[in-house]
Amino acid sequence: RLLIVDFGSQVTQLIARRLRELNVYCEIHPYQNVTMDLVRQMGPRAIIFSGGPDSVTREGSPRAPQEIFDYGVPILGICYGQQVMMEQLGGQVVSGHGTAEFGRAYVAPTEERIALLNGWFLEEREQVWMSHGDHVSELASGFRVYGTSPHAPFAITADLERNFFAVQFHPEVHHTPNGRTLYENFVRLAGFTGDWTMDAYKEEAIRKIREQVGDRKVICGLSGGVDSSVAAVLIHEAIGDQLTCVFVDHGLLRKNEAEEVVAMFRDNYNIPLIHADESDLFLGELDGVSDPETKRKIIGRLFIDVFQKHADSIEGAEFLAQGTLYPDVIESVSFSGGPSVTIKSHHNVGGLPEKMGLKLVEPLRELFKDEVRELGRELGLPDSFIGRHPFPGPGLAIRCPGEITREKLAILREADAIFIDQIRRHGLYDEIWQAFVAILPVRTVGVMGDGRTYDFACALRAVTSVDGMTADYYPFSHDFLGETATRIINEVKGINRCTYDITSKPPGTIEWE
Ligand code: XMP
Repeated sequence: RLLIVDFGSQVTQLIARRLRELNVYCEIHPYQNVTMDLVRQMGPRAIIFSGGPDSVTREGSPRAPQEIFDYGVPILGICYGQQVMMEQLGGQVVSGHGTAEFGRAYVAPTEERIALLNGWFLEEREQVWMSHGDHVSELASGFRVYGTSPHAPFAITADLERNFFAVQFHPEVHHTPNGRTLYENFVRLAGFTGDWTMDAYKEEAIRKIREQVGDRKVICGLSGGVDSSVAAVLIHEAIGDQLTCVFVDHGLLRKNEAEEVVAMFRDNYNIPLIHADESDLFLGELDGVSDPETKRKIIGRLFIDVFQKHADSIEGAEFLAQGTLYPDVIESVSFSGGPSVTIKSHHNVGGLPEKMGLKLVEPLRELFKDEVRELGRELGLPDSFIGRHPFPGPGLAIRCPGEITREKLAILREADAIFIDQIRRHGLYDEIWQAFVAILPVRTVGVMGDGRTYDFACALRAVTSVDGMTADYYPFSHDFLGETATRIINEVKGINRCTYDITSKPPGTIEWE
């Protein structure tokens, strides 16, 4: 195993991600918790010091325990981690002096190529990502320089005798394109063979949940989405019936969705599940409302109330489980730090834990979406479930521009089910990030048989995307679109016109509201 000492960088988790990709097991511990007892107990084969926001020149700034340098395993220091190493080993770090560097930089080799740099400097220089105000001004004894950038004369340094390596840039981020190679070289020279798997991750996650929860009770809000489902199954495997799931049915779900979720969790997995059918409440409060933000706010507020009501009925629950992923964690920290404009009020249960006095269990906090899917497979969730397109918390409410009525929702459900069925039949489901139908708040005139119709129009939406932040419309063939429109208009009573939305994001958004 490998120990990552976290000095508070926003991208520490990315180090863990890079290591998991190399099938190396690692644990992140905040620097405050890293004592020699912890190190000895964990017995790491290598240690990485992360970056961090502080300055080692500031009195009282974070340090590693001094004896960690005598522990005898390879250490890699990154950015602040490099500066900590230098400072604690007798080198010197200075602040500012016009040598701050943020963003893309190029590192060139100095002398011989060390094993850490195998596969590097194939070109004259390597692109790296820098983000530092301070820099090393004097190396600790035993260290030499193996790479420099215009503003970081000590961009890559090493003490080969002790297997200590220290770099000024961030090899874990995307903008250091070859950064993975550097991690790979580091773990190989530390003796890792790369035999760790998602199965091992699962076992470790289960152990941690048991340790955190003990014999107490946990509640989990199920949405039917992949993240909360994987979290629920994982936690159930860890603590069995100490977990109760609450599935809030707001009446804005897709065709058969509630039944499928209940069947899957209650019947297949035997997970205690409260199916809270609150559709009357939600649809009642949404009656006559057509403003998108008002809809979102009403749904968000009711969701919390209802969830709380049902959660309160579970006596002695002390924990709330959430399927928070790592990207949610970074987004909420916000890289820029600047205020950002609210485009849409996303539906979440953010304030709930404090309000209810619950502690959080978030077993997916370290994972990215694709890793959650892999964990889901490991837990035996069916592929059809794991590969499901994302579905927004406010559900069909935001796919029904204008006023929401039961009639419109019923029509929308049928049309949506046909569209998805078409996509599956044509083998396109997995190529598409998300697909759905929106029912438009207009009626149009048509002719069917010999009669006049005056029914709703609908829009098909299908997009490709990596993370939902940007998206492009999916280039269906005209045959596919024609066949799908014909099916919807023929099979769904209440729709007589079908359009295909070819807006990208930006400037559009994926959902219509
Ligand atoms: P937009 O419409 O903002 O959507 O381009 C981006 C992605 O987010 C989903 N979405 C939501 N997900 N609660 C959610 O859990 C919400 O309130 C919400 N609004 C949008 C949307 O389906 C798409 O995948």
